Amino acid sequence: MSTPIPRPPGVPLLGNVFDVDSNNTWWSLKKLAEKYGEIFEIKVLGHHIVFVASAALAQELCDEKRFHKAVTGPIVEIRYSVNSSLFTAYHHEECWGIAHRIIAPKLSQESVAELFDHFVTTTEELVAKWTSVDPDTPIQPLRDLNRLSFEATVLSLYGMKVNNINGPEHPVIQAMEDATSEAMKRPTRPKLLNWLVYGRKFKKATKVMRDFAAEVVKHRREHPCDRHDLLWALMNGKDPETGKGLTDNEIIDEIVTMPIGSSTAPCAIAACIYYLIHNPAVVAKAREEIDTVLSDEPFQHDHLPQLHYIMGVVRETLRLSCAAPGFNIEPIPKEGDKSPVLLAGGKYSVPHNQTMIIVLAGVNRDPAVFEDPEAFKPERMMCESFAAMPEGVKKFFGNGMRECIGKNWAWDWLMVVTTLLIRSFDFEAADKNYEFMQDGWFNIRPIDFYIRVKPRQKEVDLKN
Ligand code: HEM
Repeated sequence: MSTPIPRPPGVPLLGNVFDVDSNNTWWSLKKLAEKYGEIFEIKVLGHHIVFVASAALAQELCDEKRFHKAVTGPIVEIRYSVNSSLFTAYHHEECWGIAHRIIAPKLSQESVAELFDHFVTTTEELVAKWTSVDPDTPIQPLRDLNRLSFEATVLSLYGMKVNNINGPEHPVIQAMEDATSEAMKRPTRPKLLNWLVYGRKFKKATKVMRDFAAEVVKHRREHPCDRHDLLWALMNGKDPETGKGLTDNEIIDEIVTMPIGSSTAPCAIAACIYYLIHNPAVVAKAREEIDTVLSDEPFQHDHLPQLHYIMGVVRETLRLSCAAPGFNIEPIPKEGDKSPVLLAGGKYSVPHNQTMIIVLAGVNRDPAVFEDPEAFKPERMMCESFAAMPEGVKKFFGNGMRECIGKNWAWDWLMVVTTLLIRSFDFEAADKNYEFMQDGWFNIRPIDFYIRVKPRQKEVDLKN
């Protein structure tokens, strides 16, 4: 006999609609995970959804022989903007494999290493901007970090400078926010309401993103160059297996998808600044490493593997921030077999076609793996300690064949930005009583988090 999966009591007919705030779904799920532990379910609009929040169960769901990504809910909705792009394609769609094989080599570790200078120069623009802000005026770091991530994405992958770190914010940033928020909320509303009231907003945001992508393509066609970057691959690449390339529409789909993916990385950095403010000893240790490794040399890609403590800072940030808050899994269908799927050696049983969502806020704080899970301790995410951890707590970038294709880009970018910000600034919370809370859609970020930024006071200055 399996154990029943816990479910909040809910209300007649409406089920658990009041247990999940549709304006902040992921925070509600974090709270439910804290209350119910490794597994729980909710019922909304007649649908049962199961949530998994322990390292062991997450690891089990990542077994690709039994489970795969579930393309459901918000992921289906965002197809309105990007059709069958890498992120949204169903398993049966041939276009996923074609696009994956064309794009993956351009986002390999080696290819991303060549983008390093773009990451450094764009981050230096932000460093210059923050160096000149009035140290008494609070700023919202996320706003500038979003601009930085968009600038770095478009420059490194598409070879275009949009100049939005100092200039006005690029309209695609707001359009991504509008489109992803709409995609998250649509499954929770009646279809008619979506169509009548919210359709226009979705359409407008989609148009802004797709028009921009079309302009990127037009710019490259009008200014041919010898950069063999991601844009080149999207426009000219051929799948080695089928010999097929991407259609004009598919090129636009992927150009729009990449910045939506990379917009997760600035959410992690904003959270990192919060953790650093609350852990001055981490900042001191990080600076010792940065000053030793970088010394007065120009920052180069070869420095990254030497920055072990910064790697710990980045991983601990990914663990606690859960910037990508989760991912959806379902059992792989078996022809003619509708028997229930057993989890945890038969402890739990779910229907053969049950969608399950891995809630990383629970998984990454699993007390069975982490002592003092809320503490920010980069040491535990370094070298052998990290290597020894169960795979279930290393799923910051998703799993298997549908794992984040931008993982190497994200890793190098996070390393560069974390290093340069720690080296350059002293951060202070604008409100000493600020309580950390996150919201968001496909990614989550600190809410209303303001800081004061001062150029770093070198330890020698402090002694004088
Ligand atoms: C801290 C930064 C990032 C995190 C934590 C992150 C996390 C994730 C996760 C968890 C998935 C799996 C989603 C699922 O299973 O439904 C994913 C997929 C994806 N990510 Fe990222 N991501 C990050 C940055 C990026 C960047 C920089 C890009 C592009 C340059 C990107 C592009 C994508 C794409 C296209 C997919 C879909 C892959 C596929 O299904 O084939 N992401 N990401």
